[in-house]
Amino acid sequence: MATKIIVELPGARDYAVRIGEGVIDALGTSLRDVPSFERVRDVLVVTDSNVGPLYLARTKQALAQAGFKPADVTLPAGEDAKTLAVAGEVWSAMAQLALGRDCAVIALGGGVVGDLAGFVAASYLRGVPVAQVPTTLLAMVDSSVGGKTAVNLPEGKNLVGAFHQPSFVCADVSTLATLPDREWRCGCGEIAKSAVIDSDDFFFWMLDHAHDLAGRDTAVTAEAIQRCVVFKAQVVARDEHETSGVRECLNYGHTLGHAVETASGFGTFSHGEAVAEGMRFAVELAQAQGGVAEGFAEAQAELLDALALPRLSYDATADDLMGIMKRDKKVRGGQVRFVLARDVGQWEATPVSDDVVRAGLASWLG
Ligand SMILES: NC(=O)c1ccc[n+]([C@@H]2O[C@H](COP(=O)([O-])OP(=O)(O)OC[C@H]3O[C@@H](n4cnc5c(N)ncnc54)[C@H](O)[C@@H]3O)[C@@H](O)[C@H]2O)c1
Repeated sequence: MATKIIVELPGARDYAVRIGEGVIDALGTSLRDVPSFERVRDVLVVTDSNVGPLYLARTKQALAQAGFKPADVTLPAGEDAKTLAVAGEVWSAMAQLALGRDCAVIALGGGVVGDLAGFVAASYLRGVPVAQVPTTLLAMVDSSVGGKTAVNLPEGKNLVGAFHQPSFVCADVSTLATLPDREWRCGCGEIAKSAVIDSDDFFFWMLDHAHDLAGRDTAVTAEAIQRCVVFKAQVVARDEHETSGVRECLNYGHTLGHAVETASGFGTFSHGEAVAEGMRFAVELAQAQGGVAEGFAEAQAELLDALALPRLSYDATADDLMGIMKRDKKVRGGQVRFVLARDVGQWEATPVSDDVVRAGLASWLG
């Protein structure tokens, strides 16, 4: 059974996120009901070299059945493709196909494809519609919703991009059957983050079903995706452009997480595994400051353990991690910012002094 969640935005820009098994086969007919796709005939499906062989033909067939004329472009799989050069190749492909303002982009893949194709759509002819068709757990629970698009520069991740909300999101959970375990754990890290930040209802449901999610149970997975999308939709509706501070909650676990990813060499751990490590560290920092609810740290640890997201082992000193965190683009006034949770659903984004972070890291690394 499919469900539909609406992301509410001002200016008649609401969009639907459809979640379920087989919803990709109805992609074309679903898009026919989307106002910004009313005049669209030509669509460019952007995918990657892993996802294309698995789901491109099915996607194009679903589009053609509803009267769209699909072309496609395949990126090399992986983060290395998220560059301006690759975006340039996609813009050129669109120009060579003579795609006009009545075209649209379909992002079929994980967060890399979604971010790059979304950025291409935001900028081609000053903006054409994009539909996100996420195929990783991370993309279904996080990156396909919210309108952040980006490419990386040699100087850092996601340094060039735009806010460009999708017109439609189609999360077909059956595509997750082919996802490697490592990518599964990656998505689980972001799900744990959302559950802690959101509410008791989500957190304790997730705690009860964590083993099933780790074991890739389809019904539990679909419900976890729905709960994450409802949570993210609320955050995005309140702070679409990250100006009021609400959207910062999505960075829970990310300050140390990014540093661990960098220090251990990108790709050593999945992003979600690093976020889980960052969540564990953030609780220790919050405890050092006081005011953490009794049992919260233990409950979060129990959730992460049950999701097969154990503490990581890496070779980094407190100075290494501190140095990386000080270069983070979220540093303000020279101070590293953390999202600290004092209980489920209770968080604040706050600068933490270097001395406190350093002492926390020293005890963390033992
Ligand atoms: N825009 C946002 O709000 C936001 C939020 C979080 C992360 N991100 C971005 O998302 C990216 C990470 O996304 P990701 O974790 O999905 O990585 P990814 O897109 O690289 O996908 C991970 C791997 O899984 C493969 N894959 C994808 N779907 C598959 C399937 N169904 N079956 C088999 N293999 C499949 C891909 O080819 C790739 O090798 C990062 O660039 C990050 O910056 C963006």
